[in-house]
Amino acid sequence: MAIKHTIIAILGGTGKQGTGLALRWAAAGYTILIGSRQVEKARVSAETINRQLGIKSASGLSNQEAARRAEVSILTVIHSAHHDALVSLKDIMQGKILVDATSRVDFHNPKPPAAPCAAEEAQMILGPTVRVVAAFQNVPARSLSRNLGQPLDADVLVCSDDIPAAELVIGLAEAAGLRGYFAGPLINANVVEGLTSILISMNKHYGVKDARVRVAGISTEG
Ligand SMILES: NC(=O)c1ccc[n+]([C@@H]2O[C@H](COP(=O)([O-])OP(=O)(O)OC[C@H]3O[C@@H](n4cnc5c(N)ncnc54)[C@H](OP(=O)(O)O)[C@@H]3O)[C@@H](O)[C@H]2O)c1
Repeated sequence: MAIKHTIIAILGGTGKQGTGLALRWAAAGYTILIGSRQVEKARVSAETINRQLGIKSASGLSNQEAARRAEVSILTVIHSAHHDALVSLKDIMQGKILVDATSRVDFHNPKPPAAPCAAEEAQMILGPTVRVVAAFQNVPARSLSRNLGQPLDADVLVCSDDIPAAELVIGLAEAAGLRGYFAGPLINANVVEGLTSILISMNKHYGVKDARVRVAGISTEG
C-alpha cells in the first residue's frame, strides 16, 4: 500500500460518518488521526480500524490534538455540537483546511435547513484565514463502511471559496473511492446541505437506506 503524505484528522471521528471516511482513507494509505472528546474512545476507534485493515496508521487523540497535528481536518460531530466544536478549534485551525460534512437535517422530519449553511457558519466562527470546504454531506455513512477498497457509486459536491483547498478535497474524495466535483463557492453548500433532506425523503419513500447523488454530463477523466 502506498503511503500518502497528507495527515487527516477526523474530528468526531468515533461516529458513523467519521468512521466510514476514516476506514476509506486508512485503506487508501493515509495517516488518520481520530479525534474525540474522550481520548480513550478515540484510541479504541483507531485500534478497531487498524485491526480491521491490518494496518497501524490510525491513532486516537482529543479533537484538539488531532486538529493540531493534521494538515486537513474533517468535522463529523453531530450537528447539535457543530458550533461549540468549532469555537474550541478556532485557534488551532488558523491557516489550515477544515472540511465540514455537517448536514443539519432532521431524519424524522427532513426539510432543507435555513441559511447560512453549516459550512458558512464554520467560516464565520473560524475566521477568514481558515480554508473551509463543504463536502461529504450527502454520502451515507453506511455505504462508506462497506466494500472498502472498491469505488463507491456516489459523487461528492465540493464547495469552497478557496479553489486549491476544494481541489485537495476532491483528491481526497477520489482516494476514498468517490468522485468529487467542484460545485462552486461556499454559499452553494446551502443547496448541498438541503439535498440531504431530499435523499432522506427518497429513502423513506422508496424503502431504501442509502440513496446517493450522481452527477451527469461532466467527464473528470483526462
Ligand atoms: N450518518 C450519515 O450517514 C451522515 C451522512 C452525511 C453527513 N453526516 C454528517 O456527519 C456528522 C456526524 O454524523 P454521524 O451520523 O456520524 O453522527 P454520530 O455518529 O451520532 O456522532 C458523531 C460524533 O459526534 C460526537 N459528539 C456527540 N456529541 C457531541 C458533543 N456534545 N460535542 C462534541 N462532539 C459530540 C461524538 O464523538 P465523541 O463522543 O467521540 O466526542 C460522536 O461520535 C453530522 O453533522 C451529520 O450531519 C452524516
